[in-house]
This record gives sequence, structure tokens and C-alpha cells, in this order.
Amino acid sequence: MSEPDWANLTRADVNRLTVEVYRTAWRARPEVRRIRLMGRDAVVKDYGRGSNNFKHALGAFLATREAAALRRAEGLANIPDFYALARPWILVMEHLDARPVTALNEDERGRVLTPGFFAALTSLIEQLHARGVAHGDLEKLDNILVTPAGEPAIVDFAAAIMAGRNPLAALVLPQVEANDFRAVYKLKSQYAPELLTDEEREKLHARSRAEVIFRKVRAYIRRPVKSLAARDGEGDAP
Ligand SMILES: Nc1ncnc2c1ncn2[C@@H]1O[C@H](COP(=O)(O)OP(=O)(O)OP(=O)(O)O)[C@@H](O)[C@H]1O
Ligand SMILES: [Mg+2]
Repeated sequence: MSEPDWANLTRADVNRLTVEVYRTAWRARPEVRRIRLMGRDAVVKDYGRGSNNFKHALGAFLATREAAALRRAEGLANIPDFYALARPWILVMEHLDARPVTALNEDERGRVLTPGFFAALTSLIEQLHARGVAHGDLEKLDNILVTPAGEPAIVDFAAAIMAGRNPLAALVLPQVEANDFRAVYKLKSQYAPELLTDEEREKLHARSRAEVIFRKVRAYIRRPVKSLAARDGEGDAP
């Protein structure tokens, strides 16, 4: 059977093929949907719905960045494969059979969030870093998923920092990598506190000077960018 033509999906196709809407477009946020075509599932992340010109441009930047990160991670298990940019602001990727750790109920948490799970999550983050990709938004814990087999998976690479992209990336990469590991400790402290070691508890709150500066600069840039993207739009981009 031939491959679905992900690159030529239109928004009308996406509407027709939708199985589930994960997030509706809101302010600077993209719409995230699961679609099914020729028996194959994919996730479509679209920054062009109900948005203004600035959001389209920002969306194209973010979708391109996420696409680049997914390509670098190609072949790693439990990271979505990149499928296509159907438009510069519409990213299509593999659908992972997994759900956010934040959606686990108390009983599931006890069964799933084991030392083995955390070791596998740490290893997955190390594998990403070895490919030159720091995720940058794992502290938002719903970007960490769990498969039915209890394995960790990672999505949402819109904030990823990649080695070798520009001199600034090299400068902030260690900070963002440290931040990725801190998300593991955060997840532990919130959902499996008995597994958190003293060393991890210390690291959870300790930030290097460089990281404090990086976070301030990032917040300073993000605020006006988000509010520009959130302004009333001209409607859907094609
Ligand atoms: N490839 C995927 N496979 C399975 N589920 C996915 C995939 N990508 C995204 N999701 C689901 O959709 C949710 C939102 O996706 P994502 O985090 O990429 O968008 P977002 O704009 O960052 O949303 P938010 O800001 O609310 O996190 C994820 O938390 C996850 O539940
Ligand atoms: Mg997210």
C-alpha cells in the first residue's frame, strides 16, 4: 500500500479526517488534531487557524523548528517521526499511541511511574541530547507521554534548541539540557515523591546563574511575541 500524501493535506482534508481534537487554536497556540488517512494516524499541528499574520509567521518559525528537531531525532523510539510540513505553519507527524502522564489516575501512577520508567525517560532525554536536541519545554509535564506498555514518550518540540543552528544555541544548550533533566525530577516530586533522591531534590531548585539569565531573557522576548500572536486575526490562513 502506498504512503498517505501528508505533504499535500489541506485544512479541509484535516477537518474531514479528524479523529480527535487534542487542543483547539487559542491566542498564540496552534490547533492539534489526530487524523486518520488510509488507515494511518497522524497528528497535525496547525498555527494557521483563526490567526493573524504575525501568528502565521511565528507558527511557520515554530513548525519549522519542531520539524527540524523531529528530523534529528529520527529513529528514536517513542519520539514522533516527522511526516511533512503541509503548509509552512502546518506540521504533520507520526501519532504515538500514548497519553500524557498528567492524565494518569492515582492508581495508574503507582503502576506506571516506576524507577524503570524514570530510568527510561532519562535515557530518552540523553539520546535526544546526543542528537544535538534539547527539548526545552518538558517542565510542561503534559509533553511527557506514556505508552500502553508503560514506556515514556516525548512530544512538542516547538521550543527545542539545536546544536549548531546558531551561536546563541550553543550558548544556551547546556542550560536547556539541564532543564530537561529537571523535568524528570519535577515529575517525580509531583507524582512519585518517594522516588526522588536528595540529590535530585537539590537539583530541582538549583539554577545556574547562566540559566537564570537565559530564562529572564526568554521570558522578556516571549511576552510581547505571544501577545502579538494573540491579537484578533484575519481568519484562517490557507
Ligand atoms: N505525536 C503525537 N502523538 C500523540 N499525541 C500527541 C502527539 N503530539 C501531540 N499530542 C497530544 O496533544 C497534546 C498537545 O500537543 P502539543 O504539546 O504538541 O501542543 P501545544 O501547543 O504545546 O499544547 P500545550 O501548549 O497545551 O502543551 C499533547 O500533550 C499530547 O497529548
Ligand atoms: Mg505541549
